[in-house]
Amino acid sequence: MSIVYLNGKYLDREQASLPLDDRGFLFGDGVYEVCRAVEGRLFALDAHWSRLQKGLAAIAIDCRDRLDAATFAEIAHRLLERNDLRRGHATVYLQVTRGAAPRTHAYPPAGTPPTVYAYAAPFRVPTELREAGAGAITLPDLRWARCDIKSVNLLPNVMAKQRAVEAGAFEAVLVREGVVTEGASSNVFGVIGGELRTHPATPHILHGITRSIVLEMARELGIAVREEPLLSDDLLHVEELFATGTTTDVQPLVRLDGHVVGSGAPGEITRALWRALEERMLRH
Ligand code: PDD
Repeated sequence: MSIVYLNGKYLDREQASLPLDDRGFLFGDGVYEVCRAVEGRLFALDAHWSRLQKGLAAIAIDCRDRLDAATFAEIAHRLLERNDLRRGHATVYLQVTRGAAPRTHAYPPAGTPPTVYAYAAPFRVPTELREAGAGAITLPDLRWARCDIKSVNLLPNVMAKQRAVEAGAFEAVLVREGVVTEGASSNVFGVIGGELRTHPATPHILHGITRSIVLEMARELGIAVREEPLLSDDLLHVEELFATGTTTDVQPLVRLDGHVVGSGAPGEITRALWRALEERMLRH
């Protein structure tokens, strides 16, 4: 039995329901976060809360009556506890939509209560895939100009991930006008000439929490870092390539569009960062 959180209540999943005119359902009108928990401790929760707040402000959803930093943390902890997920790894998903109202594109009247929904789930760290490295494909980035908003409207991401899965790959690396932006559900890093490169935090990518932790750890480890995008031509001679995310950690990408990346095995910098992230998660 799984317990979810919906608008102030903890309910059996089967008993939780939403009005059919919830704007999350009709328009994808909402934002979300996915947080990681290790041994019942939530990792980088403050950063997730702050990004959620930025997203809510960007799309003008006022949910101060239903959610503040303390409630966010409490919901996450209680879901872990009620679902017996305080051992090992787990994720907590939380989304806020503009609420339920008769369907019109413009925002509903002020005071329409937003919908707050959250659940927790077990997470298995894919150790074998990390060790071996995974495959990826490149695809055109078909998304809008505000990818920094973590919108529940994920259609282009869903389509790209499906193409990757159909190609037997782990991730789709998205390319916008010759520039590598990010993955369908992760940020993408490459190593060229021993230097770590990733797209800068502009509206063309999600400002991943894992991305900024990895950048910080890289600087601590003395790895040269440049927040400058890889170009699609760079992908032909990139020495290492990896994806980062809350459910991705640091995942080496060792094949791209059927070609071998670097040595064909997870590279040194990738491994160092993956180890550092693992340690940080365990001791936070
Ligand atoms: N996705 N870029 C995109 C498009 C993402 O969807 C994600 C995460 C990331 C990584 O961000 P973070 O490090 O903050 O998790 C980058 C989540 C996990 C998801 O949609 O399930």
